[in-house]
Amino acid sequence: MPSRRPGRWRPRTVAARRPLWYPPEPHVARTLAAPRVVNIADLRRLAERRLPRVVFDYIDGGAESEITLRENCRVFDQVTFRPRGAVAAPKTDLQTTVLGTTLALPFLLAPVGSTRMFYPRGEAVAAKAGGEAGTAYVLSTLSGCKLEEVKAATTGPCWYQVYLVGGREVTRAAIERARAAGFSALVVTIDTPVAGLRERDVRNGTKELVSRRPWTMLPFVWQFLARPRWLAGFLFDGGLMRFPNVVRPDGPMAYADVGAALEQSVVSWPDLEWIREAWNGPVVVKGVLTAEDARRAVDAGVEAVVVSNHGGRQLDGVAATLRALPEVVSAVRGRAEVLMDGGIRRGSDIVKALCLGARAVLVGRAYAYGLGAGGGAGVARAIEILRSDLARTLKLLGCASVAELGPSYIEVPADWRVDSPSHPSASAATEPLQVAQDQSSGSTTVKRSR
Ligand SMILES: Cc1cc2nc3c(=O)[nH]c(=O)nc-3n(C[C@H](O)[C@H](O)[C@H](O)COP(=O)(O)O)c2cc1C
Repeated sequence: MPSRRPGRWRPRTVAARRPLWYPPEPHVARTLAAPRVVNIADLRRLAERRLPRVVFDYIDGGAESEITLRENCRVFDQVTFRPRGAVAAPKTDLQTTVLGTTLALPFLLAPVGSTRMFYPRGEAVAAKAGGEAGTAYVLSTLSGCKLEEVKAATTGPCWYQVYLVGGREVTRAAIERARAAGFSALVVTIDTPVAGLRERDVRNGTKELVSRRPWTMLPFVWQFLARPRWLAGFLFDGGLMRFPNVVRPDGPMAYADVGAALEQSVVSWPDLEWIREAWNGPVVVKGVLTAEDARRAVDAGVEAVVVSNHGGRQLDGVAATLRALPEVVSAVRGRAEVLMDGGIRRGSDIVKALCLGARAVLVGRAYAYGLGAGGGAGVARAIEILRSDLARTLKLLGCASVAELGPSYIEVPADWRVDSPSHPSASAATEPLQVAQDQSSGSTTVKRSR
């Protein structure tokens, strides 16, 4: 046998598997530069243009009346900054440490299911872009790429988000694979006892389109035909994906089975015990919105909680996550790390969340729009927008590093209330809310000023 000549060998990288006529990333990168793309809203607009309606709305939409979806973004406008003038901060330090790992940025890429529908090998290219920027990627159970492929695609840390779809043994097997592949934390999402009613998905025929029955699909396929470039990439990436990390005895779970599988596999607090045992590493609970659940998670021994309402995609009408954050930080009292997600579209949003006690945040749609707009280059652009926003906001605040951020840099509205009966300030619900940070423990407490 002839030996393989050095220089001829090509590793099986994500780039090598990209369909040939997909524009090389530098070309895409040019179309994603300023002045065309200045902020995340511009990436959203480009994603809307490139993706079929059903895919764009899957990313963009929320549950029912989308009240929580809107609120998640709106509340950031209610927090104002208190800058320090005449402070020179020529260099800003954006580094933070999450679960013992130093990240170059105080935000991670949130688990987003079915990302492979947005762009060929979507999960792998997003993870790669995250790693190149020095941050972590959280892979959803409901992903279209194998978890091993995603981990191999990035130089950064990867966490695995777990749904119990397929049952305990199927989940155990996935957890084992995630450990073997080098994932460093397990995220257990607790806000999906049933899929939220995303009305846009119903109207766009999501269920019909994944049925694989031509006559059922027919009234809705125009959405794909109207986006030939996306369609070409989708077909050459293998068409309608299965879930290669949910391997049942009869093979990887089919797309059409997701709703029913979620309902049959509700996670409950006792499950944390066997999950912790099976994983034997840091566990993060995602979907905490109250002091009660925060304490429950900490009592169960988790290393971190994510204040999250699933980006307004589950129970519509729950509080915006920024409003829930101080209550959770206060309840946790430094016994676990507190992260948050929901509504983050600018670096200044991240700064506000850090001032209110989050150690770092997760961004979902912000990078998903980038992926939909231009693959890995789009994700890189989204990350770069948030990174430069962060650095600029810190300089304008007169603050040299994210580690120094605290409540003294912001003002929250006087009518913000903390209504949880167990919250220390609940008895004075109409009084102005003040947030104070304990420098030694890093914990934030919330109290009324009068
Ligand atoms: C299209 C989409 C799919 C999502 N899929 C998952 C998922 O599979 N698992 C999960 O825990 N969260 C999932 N989420 C929620 C995100 O992890 C995150 O909580 C949310 O996107 C944060 O809000 P933001 O999009 O406003 O940043 C998804 C969010 C979106 C937008």
